[in-house]
Amino acid sequence: MVELLPLMSVDPQSVEDLLDAAFGPDRFGRTAYRIRQGLTPVNELSFALQGDDGLIGVIQCWPVAHFGADNVATPLVMVGPVAVRPDIQRGGHGRALMDKMVESARQFADGALMMIGDPEYYGRFWGFDADATGAWDLPGPFEQRRLLGLAVNGHNLPRTAGMIGPRRAPSA
Ligand SMILES: CC(C)(COP(=O)(O)OP(=O)(O)OC[C@H]1O[C@@H](n2cnc3c(N)ncnc32)[C@H](O)[C@@H]1OP(=O)(O)O)[C@@H](O)C(=O)NCCC(=O)NCCS
Repeated sequence: MVELLPLMSVDPQSVEDLLDAAFGPDRFGRTAYRIRQGLTPVNELSFALQGDDGLIGVIQCWPVAHFGADNVATPLVMVGPVAVRPDIQRGGHGRALMDKMVESARQFADGALMMIGDPEYYGRFWGFDADATGAWDLPGPFEQRRLLGLAVNGHNLPRTAGMIGPRRAPSA
């Protein structure tokens, strides 16, 4: 039996083990990790697929922002990693996790979605594209065609130049 659960209900070490298996242990050097360093996942948009013999896949989302001219911040939700256990990839599990996340984001997200990923996958099934992100910058190397966005829950994507980074706590 396969169960879709809130990510916070599964053992954090099993999540790390699955991410190592899907991305390799050098995953921490990726640009995506630099953006979300030190952040806590968004609970309502982060999920796990649990099978009889352990974790099958995970999706995590993060509270980030686009910092434009004059440092004006537009809240965004960063999607990823999306990861499925390597021996059972291409069996619909990635789609199940993304379907649940996008459905939830349409109700709960407090910013448009952004991610670094393959447009051939995330565009085909959920409509992510790189149309709005041409002037965006990230704190590390990236391919512009893989910097994707999706407007949800009334939140549009900024199209202006800006740096993507963690949301800052409001000053007291
Ligand atoms: C990417 C990933 C999450 C997809 O999940 P999955 O369960 O393997 O894939 P699904 O079964 O949902 O895929 C369904 C379809 O998408 C296609 N697809 C899967 N990954 C794709 C990719 N990266 N690019 C293009 N198409 C892809 C499949 O071929 C399949 O197509 P079909 O229905 O025409 O046969 C998974 O393969 C994975 O963990 N990969 C390694 C980690 C990674 O790269 N994560 C994404 C970056 S955040």
